[in-house]
Amino acid sequence: MSSAPRPAILPDNPRFSSGPCAKRPGWSVQALEGALVGRSHRAKEPLARIQEVISRSREVLGLPEDFRVAIVPASDTGAVEMAMWSLLGARAVEFLTWENFGEQWVIDCETQLKPLDSRIIRAPYGELPDLRQTDPARDCVFVWNGTTSGVRVPDGDWISDDRQGLTICDATSGVLAHEMPWHKLDVVTYSWQKAMGGEAGFGMLLLGPRAAERLQNFTPPWPVPKIFRLAKGQKIIEGVFRGATINTISMLAVEDALDALRWVESIGGGDAMIGRAAANFSVIDEWVARTPWVEFLARDPATRSRTSLCLSITEDWFAALDESARWEIVGALTKMLEREGAAFDIATHRAASPGLRIWGGGTVEKSDLEKLVPWLDWAWAEICTAYAP
Ligand SMILES: Cc1ncc(COP(=O)(O)O)c(C=O)c1O
Repeated sequence: MSSAPRPAILPDNPRFSSGPCAKRPGWSVQALEGALVGRSHRAKEPLARIQEVISRSREVLGLPEDFRVAIVPASDTGAVEMAMWSLLGARAVEFLTWENFGEQWVIDCETQLKPLDSRIIRAPYGELPDLRQTDPARDCVFVWNGTTSGVRVPDGDWISDDRQGLTICDATSGVLAHEMPWHKLDVVTYSWQKAMGGEAGFGMLLLGPRAAERLQNFTPPWPVPKIFRLAKGQKIIEGVFRGATINTISMLAVEDALDALRWVESIGGGDAMIGRAAANFSVIDEWVARTPWVEFLARDPATRSRTSLCLSITEDWFAALDESARWEIVGALTKMLEREGAAFDIATHRAASPGLRIWGGGTVEKSDLEKLVPWLDWAWAEICTAYAP
């Protein structure tokens, strides 16, 4: 590979991490000045702010009226686990998995949730399992967007309108970047720290009417810890869906979530966020198309994520190295970009194979991705000079 010139212009914001993700453009800590810190989250005014997060979230997501919305502890993980502990066990279930986070939910299925009649439908990194294999009689747990492989389901057409099972969808890197077919989804989870650029620690649990019906008619066969509890006996704890959180919430994080939601509204709402993610994807897509040393890990273009843009390094000499040598090189490449102030945190997740992962969600500016790509070319040329045989 020939050398590339050292770019003159840096991205204004070099934060391309896939979580926590970049704050909205123009964010500063002053956005939190009005936070009701030191107040009880159950008092009138703080509770109103929590409820405002719920109502604004509904609005930007375009959520149907009959969905319940709760803010829950432990980020997206908390929301997914709460859904699985509270709802699974009523009928057979299948887990779709094609990367690290789908595998996390499989671990729960195989080692914690017993007895459970389950089957696993798996695909390797870069691919989706055959979605036509899914059985509408079973519950189905799946990730909308596999953040560690950059492979997503293209749509919800494979989900039956007449299903008997529930669909439980971890959409933490899916929402506000991809269209969500709400009527196909019975439970959806996400956290503030992804597309919104909010703080970690709190998750959103969206519960459709069919999931609510399950809560009212079924008691899980295993213990449900207080932190996961959505029903008392078979009665839904409705307060949780009206801002009366299960345990104490951070009013600072609430204020930050409100700031993010107001910004989303100011740019045109959820559709504008999807548009921004699509435009960001195009910058990287066009660069990949003209760049010989990278390609998307997601083989099928229809499954390529608009948020976690996962790239493999394809140059022969690199591909011929063992995994630890490839990690060493990705480490050197990403350190170089960090030192220059061009990009932070763009190595692939430790569970994936060595490569690059660039966040393209709506809080990232397209212009920053345009400024980033010459730095990627430059850094790779430097790596080739240092390491290529
Ligand atoms: C698909 C998916 N599920 C779950 C998680 C865990 O999220 P959190 O750390 O917010 O609980 C992540 C984090 O990146 C993710 O990408």
